Order: sequence, then C-alpha cells, then structure tokens
Amino acid sequence: MKVMLIILGIAGVAAIAVVAGCRMLAGRSTEATVALTAKIPGKVAVVYYSQSKVGNTATVAKWIARHTGGELVPIEAVEAYPDAYGDTLKAAEKDMENGGTRAIKSVPPLDSYDMVFIGSPIWYGTYAPPVAEFFKTHSFAGKTVVPFCTHGGGGAGRYFMDVRKACPAATVKEGLAIRGSNQIERRLGTGVTVHHTEDDVVNWLNAVF
Ligand SMILES: Cc1cc2nc3c(=O)[nH]c(=O)nc-3n(C[C@H](O)[C@H](O)[C@H](O)COP(=O)(O)O)c2cc1C
Repeated sequence: MKVMLIILGIAGVAAIAVVAGCRMLAGRSTEATVALTAKIPGKVAVVYYSQSKVGNTATVAKWIARHTGGELVPIEAVEAYPDAYGDTLKAAEKDMENGGTRAIKSVPPLDSYDMVFIGSPIWYGTYAPPVAEFFKTHSFAGKTVVPFCTHGGGGAGRYFMDVRKACPAATVKEGLAIRGSNQIERRLGTGVTVHHTEDDVVNWLNAVF
C-alpha cells in the first residue's frame, strides 16, 4: 500500500512537471531572430485550413504571411468537424471514403495573386478534405504554389506529392513540414509553438527564395 502511494505520488509529480513544462514552452517567445534575406516576388496569398482548437496550421500561416507580406485566406468547411478528436477522426474517415472532399465556404478568386502558399494539417498522410475541395474548385495555371503543412509527428506523408498532382499547371516550390501537436499536447492546449518558432519559417523562405 505504502509503495503504491509512493509510486502514485511520483507519477503525480511527473505529470505536473510535464504540464508545467508544456505551459512554459507554450508561453515562450516564438518571434523570428533570423533576418529574412529572401526576396518574395509578386502578390502573395497564404491559403490555409486549420481544424484543431490550438490552430497549428493557422499559426504557421500567420508566420508565413508576416514574413511574405501575403494576404491570409482561410478555408472553412461548410459543416465544421466535431471538436472531439475521436469524432473528427470518424468524420474525416467518412469524407475520405466519400471521395476525399468536404464542402467549403466560398474562397475569394485568386486570379490577382502570383504566388499561393497552401497549408493543411496532415490527415491520414495527406491534405484534409476541405483542402481537397479547394484544389478541385480553383485553378493554379501559371502560378507559383508553395505548400506547407503541420502534422502530429508522422511527417508530411504524401502531402507534397499530392499538392503537385493537384496543380499540374503550377510551378510548385519546395514545401515546409512543421511538427504540430499530437493528441496529448493538444489536450494540454499546446500547439506548434512547443516545437517551432518563426525562425523555422524564415530559414525555409531564405532557402527557397
Ligand atoms: C483526422 C485526423 C487525421 C490525422 N492524421 C495524421 C497523420 O496521418 N499524421 C500525423 O502526423 N498527424 C495526423 N494528425 C494530426 C494533425 O496533423 C496535427 O495535429 C495538425 O498539426 C493539426 O493541425 P491544425 O491545428 O491546424 O488543425 C491527424 C489529425 C486528425 C484530426
């Protein structure tokens, strides 16, 4: 009994330390310390879909917009996915079985933009169904497309390849994959800032442009 109580005590202290650590990291400064040397040509749109409450992809989209001067263009599902993670998985699976898309609210035409950054959370190894719908309803002929994504630890999967397939008439640049947060981190309210700062975006832009 005494041993059990000691073990429970140690486990409790460890759990508190993990939560406190995540909170501390979540609160740290993520501002860029690296100088942007990239010259990003033309008019830029940063189109993104972000589903979770911590908004990993939305955060990265904002970082990209800040350093490219791009306009943020969110993609929103007509019928939002449920909040609970398990329910989102089920709903997304259903979408995947039914053609892989999900109806989205109208996205303004992108005709006037030269360069379109496109971001999605990785869902089952590729872009989420609302982004699939966006690809189906927009043309990227003659544009430069720059893909980025956030994931829960499994990496970008087929994302970059699938973006190239979805816009065959565009010039597709080297993309950015950012570690977002997994299920446990999301429950703790922590997002992409646990693993990354804006420096990762600036370094990527400097390497690509
Ligand atoms: C339906 C669903 C499927 C997912 N599939 C993957 C996956 O295949 N690989 C991975 O690493 N993470 C996966 N994740 C985790 C998300 O990619 C990750 O949490 C992402 O950063 C969430 O972005 P958001 O906050 O912008 O919604 C999945 C999450 C959901 C809800």
